[in-house]
Amino acid sequence: MIYSKFLSVGAYAPENIVTNEDLSKIMDTSDEWISTRTGIKERRISKNEDCSDLAYKAGKNALEKSGLKAEDIDLIIVATVSPDMFFPSVSCIVQDKLGAENATCFDLNAACSGFVYGCIVASSMIKTGEYKNALVIGSEVLSKLLDWEDRSTAVLFGDGAGAAIITKSETEGIIAGATSSNGSKGGSLSCGALDVKSPFTEEDNIKHKKLIMNGREVFKFATGAMVDNINKLLEKTNISLDEVKYIVPHQANVRIIDYVARKINEPIEKFYMNLDRYGNTSSATIPLVLNEMDEKGLLQKGDKIILVGFGAGLTSGALILNW
Ligand code: UT7
Repeated sequence: MIYSKFLSVGAYAPENIVTNEDLSKIMDTSDEWISTRTGIKERRISKNEDCSDLAYKAGKNALEKSGLKAEDIDLIIVATVSPDMFFPSVSCIVQDKLGAENATCFDLNAACSGFVYGCIVASSMIKTGEYKNALVIGSEVLSKLLDWEDRSTAVLFGDGAGAAIITKSETEGIIAGATSSNGSKGGSLSCGALDVKSPFTEEDNIKHKKLIMNGREVFKFATGAMVDNINKLLEKTNISLDEVKYIVPHQANVRIIDYVARKINEPIEKFYMNLDRYGNTSSATIPLVLNEMDEKGLLQKGDKIILVGFGAGLTSGALILNW
């Protein structure tokens, strides 16, 4: 039996900190509104760095901690919705910067669920026996896709990257995943790319090359999908929530996480959060949290952890693992 497990995690966030106070000077908002409605106090905003720069730094950090060499990596998956270019992929750019010449590279677009999807794909590829060491990265510069005139979205997001090395193992690390997607709700969180006919409206051309969102609709989807995926995982694996030490949720809004905690009857302390300092960094969120928990020494070998995300698509996914 071939298993897969997390070997190391890493992260990188731009130095530039933008607080709620800073935002209230450039738009009609306040620290009070942002903090109470979302839990966010500040976020990092990239100045001169692109998605691949952040991805490379997070990937390098995870690689250094793993004890592997760049040549040992045979798979690189970058989950992102804010790539430098349509092509080449961010993962190919990262491969070149790292010197990971033996890696097969591709990007994956599942928005904020992207890191969880990436880990599930990497784990499945390792379990075929064809791959040994995968670098999975979530990296975003959403600040470049935001409409800074739209206070209802601009205050929510931030930039950052997180990474994990997933490796072939003789003991069970990644236990199971659960995913789902709902394309019929795609219009509730979108960002145009080319001047094409919108699949969501009667518009002839998508002129909005900026992120637009129906926050309430996404909120509703998020709470339902997170609870469903956690329950699916527990059913599938016969593991009870009592055995799970931490739930690492996508960090979009503390109210979403509160709702999920109440719905599954778990104390909020079981959900680790850092959205007060980073905001919503989409695919980077979950690995940024994991890295912080790892650096704080919160994760012990064998601990059962659930990762659970949701995002544009709409997509959602969860993963249960032994650390
Ligand atoms: O990773 C996935 C991405 N997205 C999400 O997960 C988002 C999920 N949704 C949410 O987190 C919440 O729906 C939001 C935080 C986006 C919005 O919270 P809400 O409680 O649903 O607020 P709302 O959109 O209903 O807006 C309430 C009021 C409105 O004013 P009126 O119409 O009541 O006068 C907004 O215009 O708050 C106003 N508002 C703001 N006021 C100050 C909206 N944005 C702001 C702002 N500052 N930044």
